[in-house]
Amino acid sequence: MKKIGILTSGGDAPGMNAAIRAVVRQGNALGMTTVGIYHGYKGCIMGNFEEFQLRDVSGIIEEGGTILRSKRAPEFKEKKTQVKAVRKLNKEGIEGLIVIGGDGTLRGGNALHDQGVPTVGIPATIDNDIYGTDMTIGVDTALNTVVEALDRIRTTASALERTFIVEVMGRDSGYIALMGGLAGGAEVVLVPEMDYDLNEVAKGIYEGYKKGKQHTIVVVAEGVYREGSAAHYVGQHIREKIGFEMRVTVLGHMQRGGSPTAFDRSIASRLGAEAVKRIYGGDSGLMVGLQGSRIEPVEFSEVASKSKELDMELYKLAETLSK
Ligand code: ADP
Ligand code: F6P
Repeated sequence: MKKIGILTSGGDAPGMNAAIRAVVRQGNALGMTTVGIYHGYKGCIMGNFEEFQLRDVSGIIEEGGTILRSKRAPEFKEKKTQVKAVRKLNKEGIEGLIVIGGDGTLRGGNALHDQGVPTVGIPATIDNDIYGTDMTIGVDTALNTVVEALDRIRTTASALERTFIVEVMGRDSGYIALMGGLAGGAEVVLVPEMDYDLNEVAKGIYEGYKKGKQHTIVVVAEGVYREGSAAHYVGQHIREKIGFEMRVTVLGHMQRGGSPTAFDRSIASRLGAEAVKRIYGGDSGLMVGLQGSRIEPVEFSEVASKSKELDMELYKLAETLSK
C-alpha cells in the first residue's frame, strides 16, 4: 500500500489533530503518502483531497477541532452516494482509508469497507459512547472542562447558598454527566439512561439543605429532556420545592473546544499509529480501541451492533459520595 486517505467526520473532538498527525507520520515511516480528505464524507464524495507532507502536520498536536474540518453528510447513507465516493477515491489512487469520528462516522467506514475500500476507524467523540473502547479521543479534555466549570460554579453557589442546575453534553449518553459529576463533586447527576421522578429529586435536594449543605449542584445531561433545554426543564419542575435559590447554566459547545489534554494527545497518537499499521498490514473493517492500557482491534460489525452501557456502580458511588 502506497497511498492512504484520512478524514474526520461528525462532531469534532479535541485530539483529532493529534490523531491526524500520527497517521501522516506513521504512514510516512512505513513509506506511504497520506491524502487529507476535507469535510468528512462530503469531501469524499466531492473529491476534496490534498496530499500531506510531514511538515503539514507540524504544530497541530496541541490544537482542538480538526484541520481537516468536519461536516455531516446524511446522503452518505445511500449506496449510490457511497459508490460515487469509491470512484473518487480510486481515481485519486487512495488504496486505504482511515476514518476518525463517532459511531456515525464508523458506520460510514463500514459502508466503504463493504464497498471494497480497506478502511480502519479511530473512535473520537466527547460522548464516549462507542462499544469496544474504554475511552474515545476527546472525552478526557471535555471532562476536564466540565470539572473546571463545576469548580467555578461551586464557589459562587456556595457564597450565595444556591442550587445550580448545570447542563452538560450527551444527547444519548450520560457519560460526561456521570464522570463530570463524580469528579466535580456534584450533589445530583441526571442521565438519559435513567427515568426520574423530579419530585423525589427536589426532595433529595431539600434534605441535603436540612443537613447543612451550603449549596447544591445538579449535573444534567442534555438528553434527559428532548423537547428543549434539559436544565431549564428540570429547573422549572423543582424551583419551588427545593428550599434554595436556583440558577441554571448550560455549558454547551465549550465542552468540545480547547487544547487536548495529555491523555487525549497520547491515546490519539497511539490509536492513529496503530490504525496505520493495521491498514498497512492488510486489515480492514475494524476500529482500533483502547481496552485497559492496550490498543485492540474490534470489528465494525461488533461496534455497530453493541452499545456501551453506563457503569451503574459508578453512578451509585457518585450518589453515595454526594451525601
Ligand atoms: P458521529 O460520527 O459523531 O456519530 P454522525 O452520527 O453525525 O456523527 O455521523 C457522521 C457522518 O457519518 C454522517 O453525516 C454520515 O455522513 C456518516 N454516517 C452516519 N451514519 C451512517 C450510515 N449508517 N451509513 C453511512 N454513513 C453514515
Ligand atoms: O459531540 C457529541 C455531541 O456533543 C452530543 O453530545 C451533542 O448532542 C451533539 O454532539 C451536538 O452536536 P452539534 O451541535 O454539532 O449537532
